[in-house]
Amino acid sequence: MTNRKKPKVYITRKLPDAVETRMRELFDAELNIDDSPRTQPELVAAVKSADVLVPTVTDRIDAALIEQAGPQLKLIASFSNGFDHIDVDAAAKKGITVTNTPNVLTEDTADMTMALILAVPRRLAEGSRILTDKPGEWPGWSPTWMLGRRIWGKRIGIVGMGRIGTAVARRAKAFGLSIHYHNRKKVNPATEDELEATYWDSLDQMLARVDIVSVNCPSTPATFHLLSARRLALMQPTSYIVNTARGDIIDETALIQCLRDGRIAGAGLDVFENEPAVNPKLLKLAEAGKAVLLPHMGSATMEGRIDMGEKVIVNIRTFFDGHRPPNRVLPGRT
Ligand code: DGY
Repeated sequence: MTNRKKPKVYITRKLPDAVETRMRELFDAELNIDDSPRTQPELVAAVKSADVLVPTVTDRIDAALIEQAGPQLKLIASFSNGFDHIDVDAAAKKGITVTNTPNVLTEDTADMTMALILAVPRRLAEGSRILTDKPGEWPGWSPTWMLGRRIWGKRIGIVGMGRIGTAVARRAKAFGLSIHYHNRKKVNPATEDELEATYWDSLDQMLARVDIVSVNCPSTPATFHLLSARRLALMQPTSYIVNTARGDIIDETALIQCLRDGRIAGAGLDVFENEPAVNPKLLKLAEAGKAVLLPHMGSATMEGRIDMGEKVIVNIRTFFDGHRPPNRVLPGRT
């Protein structure tokens, strides 16, 4: 791309220094050094002037915004694995290519899922708060104090057995959980054998039989409130639910009610329906030890963020070199 005009690239959030520096070297890149979330009018101005928009999961790239894009906008190279924040069909209609950053946050997100799977039944956050919130008031070890529930030997039901779901299954198996999963289709026989996994084509049936539910499917119109009030009611009162995918896959109001009524034992949530707002009732449940809440940090490792940035750069360069970028999101997938 040396003798050509550099594409004008608008990046909506602060990225790791190494990624931003490389982007400045390669492109006419507009950075967001102070990381303030971009307003909708700022995004409108960006799609009217930039050749490439680099949004993240916090930006709403809907049909109304895309409609206002100028003819120069050719690529939306999202700094994200998920693409539920982008109206991919509207972009395709306008001739704009969309790319994402798959694969590079699989292991980090699976680690965080496992951390929540351990944290909720073993009361990690509660235990930590006892030491930090009331220093010096720990009365010492006692045989019946702070008892949680054992992980080993239980059943996990994974909702969505894609890359992240499979990575969670591998970890869960090592922790002695037996693997159950619901997916649109069965995983390949070699993976199923390796994981000794049981496939349920009926999500309802699986939910009623497992001890821990892990939500690992993407957010699409089809998965909106997949874990509905009716389905949550199928879970056992001793069971736990963990979500590191997207908040809107679980009906949060219904989940709160189940946790309050003791119809589900606990929840570990890294994502919320109205992020960054968190329902105050969930905060109360966390205080009461019924939930462990994290601020959408499942993929938040420096290594992961740099890998994501590299994917964005490769997608932009490939596109402007006249080839198909490797991580195209095709219309009709949302
Ligand atoms: C993504 O990129 O989709 C993740 O949710 C960010 O953690």
